[in-house]
Amino acid sequence: MTRNIIEVSDLSVAYAHNPVIWHINLAVKANSRTAVVGPNGAGKSTLIKSIMNLNKPLSGKVEINGKKPKHALKNIAYVPQKGEVNWDFPTTVLDVVLMGRYVHKGWFKRMNKADVAAAMDALSTMKMEAFKDRQISELSGGQRQRVFLARAICHDADFYIMDEPLQGIDITTEKLIIDTIKALQAKGKSFLVVHHNLDTVEEYFDHVIILNKSVIAQGTIEEAWKKENIDKAYDDRSVTT
Ligand SMILES: Nc1ncnc2c1ncn2[C@@H]1O[C@H](COP(=O)(O)OP(=O)(O)OP(=O)(O)O)[C@@H](O)[C@H]1O
Ligand SMILES: [Mg+2]
Repeated sequence: MTRNIIEVSDLSVAYAHNPVIWHINLAVKANSRTAVVGPNGAGKSTLIKSIMNLNKPLSGKVEINGKKPKHALKNIAYVPQKGEVNWDFPTTVLDVVLMGRYVHKGWFKRMNKADVAAAMDALSTMKMEAFKDRQISELSGGQRQRVFLARAICHDADFYIMDEPLQGIDITTEKLIIDTIKALQAKGKSFLVVHHNLDTVEEYFDHVIILNKSVIAQGTIEEAWKKENIDKAYDDRSVTT
């Protein structure tokens, strides 16, 4: 029986008193590739932010390795949803990836050769090493997304939480990212990934959480990825696009 890396119990979150997710109970297995799937506005990013301690729930609790999120964040690499990040600050690609190392060193320590080598390794995994000195404001959307993934790889966390990392990514890069995720899983890492394309859930993930304001189904792909569950989640056409 694999242990749970995340346990969420009876979590409800509201914005300005409007509840957007309610009574969420879920578990994410260690060493899994778990997808979070559901229509626009289903509360996927809200759930991820609660796990990352970025919002204040109305009620309920989140535990990461049995600890409160704020005590467990060091071991998590987080890739926010595209559009939630301001890319206008003057920084090079290499510096953005090096930020992935600060959690290990603290903000005031100098980066050394080993840190730069780790950052270059991560950039090369994402096939972005040729852009290392480029300003991030001067990259395409997909290239920025790859830099962000390189930063997460450079972080060398045990657990990766990614909010639609494949959004706006070309198919070659998509395969590259999925292969990288599978290789990291083989080394013992765990993944919780918001995913939009229903056609690739089975191919890319081994567990799934189907969400639409509450949890509709969760478990292994075999257990939970069923037509009736998907229909139930996407049935409310007012929240789909
Ligand atoms: N900061 C906020 N203030 C007020 N309402 C918000 C805020 N963030 C999200 N919402 C609302 O909460 C609901 C859930 O939003 P959330 O971003 O979690 O959905 P999502 O499932 O990630 O959607 P998408 O697929 O579009 O990314 C939506 O109705 C959204 O309008
Ligand atoms: Mg979202």
